[in-house]
Amino acid sequence: MNQGKAAIKMSPLGIFDSGVGGLCVLREIKKLLPHESIHYFADSINCPYGSKTRQEVLSLSRKNIEFLLKLDCKLIVIACNTVTAVAIDSFRSEYNIPFVGMEPALKPAALQTKSKKIGILATENTINGRLFKQTLEKHATGLDVYIQPGYGLVELVENKAQNSDQAQSLLKKYLFPMMDKGVDTIVLGCTHYPFLTEMIKKVTKNRVTIIDPAAAVANQTKKMLIKFDLASNSQNHPLFNFSTTGEKKIVETFIENTMNTPYTLEQINI
Ligand code: DGL
Repeated sequence: MNQGKAAIKMSPLGIFDSGVGGLCVLREIKKLLPHESIHYFADSINCPYGSKTRQEVLSLSRKNIEFLLKLDCKLIVIACNTVTAVAIDSFRSEYNIPFVGMEPALKPAALQTKSKKIGILATENTINGRLFKQTLEKHATGLDVYIQPGYGLVELVENKAQNSDQAQSLLKKYLFPMMDKGVDTIVLGCTHYPFLTEMIKKVTKNRVTIIDPAAAVANQTKKMLIKFDLASNSQNHPLFNFSTTGEKKIVETFIENTMNTPYTLEQINI
């Protein structure tokens, strides 16, 4: 292996999201790939992306990617269903770096459901995307699928209000109608929603199975690192660095609930 390749293998994985949601994905990646350094970028000042136009999502995400590329990230995980739905195809042809994106976890939900009725909570942009429609066609034949945009949920998470009365009443409003139809499995189609898991369990009285794709995305990241010969072979302690365009304090709380290793966090404008 030449010097260049050895250095690239030591470079960090880049992960970004419109905010703190992607930390759920980071947690799984860190578990599965304990020798990888990570740079996580949260664009909280511009969050939510879920109802923005395609052009806005493309241009904000491009900035996030350029930022991570300046830090020499060797692979980028788009830990945001919305950006994946709107823009991953464009980015794959635009940049010379591997990307891993989020996929709606319909396949595991189809395997799991007994009632053959599943519910999906996601942002508007994710629901309207081609990827979502393709995944539905591929994995949801023979199932009744209830699709619900999670208006307002991302904002609640970004404001650390995931255990608030407001979160409870929004979740009741979104989940009760599908449960009345017999849904027994709910797919979390937005990386912010796993932070609402406890509230979802409470509201549904533990009567539904919650499907979160984060572990599958970590597996896909590992496969891509192997495929492109990019996996770190260092036994040194990996580095964890975070940047946010929003308030440091908020991100800090989420990081500390996600991992207990040393890290740096900076507030930036890009
Ligand atoms: N975490 C993003 C996602 O998975 C949230 C989208 C938003 O910012 O609205 O879609």
